[in-house]
Amino acid sequence: MNPRIMVVDDEPNMQKTLSGILHQQGYDVTVCGDGKEAIEILDTEEQFNLIITDIKMPCIDGMTMLSTIRKKNKEIPVIIITGHATVDSAIDAVKLGAYDYIRKPYMPDQILFSARRAIEHEKLVSENLYLHDQLKGKFQLKGLIGNNKKMQEICQLVQKVSKANAAILIRGESGTGKELIANAIHYNSQRNKNKFLAINCGALPENLLESELFGHEKGAFTGAINSRIGIFETADKGTVFLDEIGDLSLTTQMKLLRVLQDGKFRRVGGTRQIKVNVRIISATNKNLKDLIKEGLFREDLYYRINVIAIDLPLLKERKDDIPLLVKHFLAPKRISSEAMNLLVNFDWPGNVRELENVIERAVALREGNCILPEDLPEYISAGAGLAPASKIAGENFHEARITFERDFLINILKKASGNISLASKRAGISRRHFYEKMKLYGIKR
Ligand SMILES: Nc1ncnc2c1ncn2[C@@H]1O[C@H](COP(=O)(O)OP(=O)(O)OP(=O)(O)O)[C@@H](O)[C@H]1O
Ligand SMILES: [Mg+2]
Repeated sequence: MNPRIMVVDDEPNMQKTLSGILHQQGYDVTVCGDGKEAIEILDTEEQFNLIITDIKMPCIDGMTMLSTIRKKNKEIPVIIITGHATVDSAIDAVKLGAYDYIRKPYMPDQILFSARRAIEHEKLVSENLYLHDQLKGKFQLKGLIGNNKKMQEICQLVQKVSKANAAILIRGESGTGKELIANAIHYNSQRNKNKFLAINCGALPENLLESELFGHEKGAFTGAINSRIGIFETADKGTVFLDEIGDLSLTTQMKLLRVLQDGKFRRVGGTRQIKVNVRIISATNKNLKDLIKEGLFREDLYYRINVIAIDLPLLKERKDDIPLLVKHFLAPKRISSEAMNLLVNFDWPGNVRELENVIERAVALREGNCILPEDLPEYISAGAGLAPASKIAGENFHEARITFERDFLINILKKASGNISLASKRAGISRRHFYEKMKLYGIKR
């Protein structure tokens, strides 16, 4: 479908010229005589991608129309054409939310250039709104994004197993969301009024780990000045998450087995049996079956912790979720479709965690509102054929516009292998205009 543009102007001649220029470029054009008529048309459902309006008109002028449209919360971009260009009216227009303003007399190229950008911008905004709606609608577990079929199955499984007390083993490569799933299970269960405590079994030496898990009595070892309760006691009636369970020593495995069998254990250095009611969720990125074969993991423990297994997919196996995740990590900033493409097509050895880090970095680097390919690490943007970053886009509209134009021109010129005629044709502006802009921004072929 061709993009739809509404042209608002009271002078028949101007209407004709402008709609002619736009029509020639394949836009669908609707013409209105003044702001009142335009608002009426917009109110009756019709979808437009852009409005180009004159300022001076009978009844409702361009500025009043613009502010009415914005009050109605419509995101549609508006380009203002002004014959009496004072700096004030231009600034007012931008303040009211105009996308751009153009002074009379204008060159057709100016209008086309601005219109094309405005429509691209509108597309980006509506894509983002769409993603936002999808986010709100679909995922049922708090903080967990995944519309991909496999992830939806996992979400359903999580909801089902949350109600039970069975031990769960979550398997997945690093950064695939194992801890997040464990959390979701706890918060969807009846245990959610009690604690969820996580411990990384690979991070501590055996004696310290045991003391963390089971607590210790005063004098149990050098430095044990006081007795201390461990996470099994603290998380009583709650959930304990044993991360990297494949790293447990065989001795600790045996003690853990007892907790799983009858909920009983002793504090380190203690004699008293303590009984607790905890649910155990374990996670691993190792193949426990292999560890069993090597004699490094107890088979009986394996069956105890693995009553229900949840296998998390690699991020590259659910590329359809990447836009949703990006949007989630990015909000409220936005991202260009080019940058998004790069992210979707990357392999993500570090899975969701890596994606999250990349977005976090991009958000920190980019002062403006929209993440561009050059905000991504080079190993991701490599091959995108992009110019070095120009980091001048700030809060200021004029500066942001310069940044955008410059990057736009460099990019399109690169893609055309430096052929100005071809690049200008693709950009929809004259060769001369293109060349002047290159000179203006110091862009070399
Ligand atoms: N489906 C998801 N939706 C939203 N955020 C996610 C999702 N999966 C993972 N994340 C985020 O990615 C990061 C890594 O997730 P998490 O810590 O759960 O992974 P992990 O599998 O435990 O990783 P590791 O093996 O490195 O410990 C976290 O910040 C988490 O919030
Ligand atoms: Mg983890």
